[in-house]
Order: sequence, then C-alpha cells, then structure tokens
Amino acid sequence: MIKYICAKDEYEAGSCAARIFAEIINSKSDAVIGLATGSTPLKMYAKLVEMCKNSEISFKNVISVNLDEYIGLQPSHDQSYAYFMRENLFKHIDINPDNTFIPNGVSQDDLSECDRYNNVLEKIGGVDVQLLGIGHNGHIAFNEPNSFFTKDTSIVDLSESTINANSRFFISKNDVPRRAISMGIGRILRSKRILLLATGESKAKILEESLFGRITPQIPASILQFYQGEMIVVGDKAAFSEIIKNHPEVL
Ligand code: GLP
Repeated sequence: MIKYICAKDEYEAGSCAARIFAEIINSKSDAVIGLATGSTPLKMYAKLVEMCKNSEISFKNVISVNLDEYIGLQPSHDQSYAYFMRENLFKHIDINPDNTFIPNGVSQDDLSECDRYNNVLEKIGGVDVQLLGIGHNGHIAFNEPNSFFTKDTSIVDLSESTINANSRFFISKNDVPRRAISMGIGRILRSKRILLLATGESKAKILEESLFGRITPQIPASILQFYQGEMIVVGDKAAFSEIIKNHPEVL
C-alpha cells in the first residue's frame, strides 16, 4: 500500500522526507540509503545537514548509493551528480566518503562500469530506503520512457524532454550530456522502502498518471504501482493537486 503525505510547500515536504530518513537511520545506524539528485531533494538535504549539525542524526556508519550519473562529466564538473552530492550533502555531514557510491561517468568503458556498479550494489546488499524524484516524462533515476523496463544498471540515452528539462542547469542545451548511467528499475524495486518526493505544479499531472494510470514502460514511474515494499509519496500541495482533485480518498 502506498502512503501519501501532502505537505504545505516544498520546504515542509523536504523536512518531512528528511525526518523519515532520519528515523530509519536512527533505528539502524549502518543503514543503506539510496539517494537521488535534481532540484527536488535540495530542501531535504538541507534539512538532513541541519539535523546532523544539531546531532539529531549521524551518518558515521551509513552507506549511500546514488541512482545515476551523466556520462562524460568529471566528478569535479559542477553539473555532475558526484559534485552535486558532495556540495549539497556529503561535505556537510559525517558520512565516510568511502561509503558513498555513485556510478562513474568517466570510466574507460561504460559497460564495465555498469557491471562494476551492479557488483557494488550486490555487495552492499539491500537498500533500506531509496529516495526517488520524478521526471516530467515519468522517468525515475534516468530510466527514460521506453518499450521495456530496465532491470539492472545500464547506459541510457537521455530523451529530448529530459535534455530540455535539465538544460536549465547548463550554459547551453548543447552542454547537456546525451547519455547517463542509471540504476535499473528492477534494482530500484528491490529496495526495502521507497520515498518518492515530488514538488511543484509541473509534477502534478505526471505524479497522478504514474500512481493511478496505466502501468507502462512509457511512464517508467508507473511500475511503482507494482512495488511490494513500503512506499511513501511525499509532496507539496502543488504536486499533489491532481491527486487531490481526482483521488482525494488517498490523502
Ligand atoms: C533528473 C534525475 C532524476 C530526478 C529527475 C527530476 O534528471 N536523473 O533522478 O528525479 O530528473 O529532477 P528535478 O527534481 O530537478 O525535477
């Protein structure tokens, strides 16, 4: 069963998501947490940093795994997800950098990198809680609309709509990488818990379509309807607006 938490705004949604993560980490100090990038989790990460600074939470024994990385961006590039994680979370908390895992977007051989990352995930064992954002086209991690659901970590061609959406972070659209390495959907579904975080009006339609519409690889997030673990959807009123209108009973 999916649990829905509708927050007032993106700040409250971020705090709520951070508290859920903190609770899990506080009950299991060596928890494996699955992390995501994008603008959506920024408020949540800021809250986790604050909680860590106030000694409300410690990441000392926590292991983190990230969903994806652009192919071709050095970890020092300010739009790489390695950089994003370092700047927005890791360097402000007491996590051991050796316990943070992100696919390498600049390996010699991308296919071997996928294998390496799958092995890392296998070795680490189950993810206790996986954070997910959602793309405007329903992608989760970088699993784009397709004719099939991906199983394991793979190389992904980014869709035109994702390139357009993410071009806001780059100097020009031409600078946006065309490919990424992404954890597969099969792997995501193996996490013990999933926290899907969505904020803003622009996510309202796709959030409703994904969680209440047809289950199809054309809307990758729709597979979450089949997820067997504990799933919490945290969003603000704007992102929940279509759900509030059409499925008020779930709230
Ligand atoms: C990015 C990431 C996803 C993220 C999504 C939404 O491209 N690969 O993991 O969830 O797109 O991003 P945002 O939160 O900026 O809307």
